Amino acid sequence: MKKIFYFIFAAIAAVSMTACTNNETPSVDISESGGLSVESLSENLTTDILDSIEVKNETISETDKSDISEKTTAETTEETQEESKAALIVYFYWSGNTEAVANEIAAQTGADIFELIPDLPYTDDYDELLDIAQDEQSRGARPQIAESIDLSDYDTVFIGYPNWWADMPMIVYTFFDEYDLSGKTIAPFCTSGGSGFSGTLGTIAELEPNAEITEGLHISGSSADKCADDVSEWLSETGLLN
Ligand SMILES: Cc1cc2nc3c(=O)[nH]c(=O)nc-3n(C[C@H](O)[C@H](O)[C@H](O)COP(=O)(O)O)c2cc1C
Repeated sequence: MKKIFYFIFAAIAAVSMTACTNNETPSVDISESGGLSVESLSENLTTDILDSIEVKNETISETDKSDISEKTTAETTEETQEESKAALIVYFYWSGNTEAVANEIAAQTGADIFELIPDLPYTDDYDELLDIAQDEQSRGARPQIAESIDLSDYDTVFIGYPNWWADMPMIVYTFFDEYDLSGKTIAPFCTSGGSGFSGTLGTIAELEPNAEITEGLHISGSSADKCADDVSEWLSETGLLN
């Protein structure tokens, strides 16, 4: 009897070792020993091993799937960011209204922003400024812009300015003189005391004949700090929001 138990024990050990090392069905073939079938034991072990391999494979493939989906999401986000990088907001302001609109457009689009700062700053005195602006306009001045920018990466250029004497401030003319916006989309916006664009949309079209010009956005100076709804409506109507 003892011998039979030793024999069964040895057979089980042999089967387990073979299964663990090779992942193959053990070759020991002993039909029955004391009611315990070594063959069925071997089958059970093999099935368990195969099951565990399958579970492992499933786990790996689930991990792979989530890796792939994470990668795809990351790549898509990167591409979207690259697309939103293609828009730039260029603007000039004196008292802050146009800047408020520019910042709202930036917040809603994620576009880059570039302020047209005059090399020689304007006076802080409103009445004096009225005279200076009128004088610049009458002599077709081109006030120098303090910094330059590379526009080559941008497909869309928002351009914002206050209405000065029924026209664009002359520094905006400097910008159009210095930069060729051919092939780009120009999205103009303007703030005023009530005159709106005063024909400046037509002027931009003349200055940049090879650009596509969208419908403009006019915001009254007194509403500039609450322009979010007007901006979002304009962006969706003109298709400027990606
Ligand atoms: C020199 C100057 C001229 C202006 N001319 C006009 C004008 O012709 N029509 C008008 O509606 N508002 C005019 N305004 C008012 C501005 O367009 C308005 O206050 C604008 O919102 C100011 O923008 P900002 O705060 O970005 O400088 C003028 C303002 C200045 C300083």
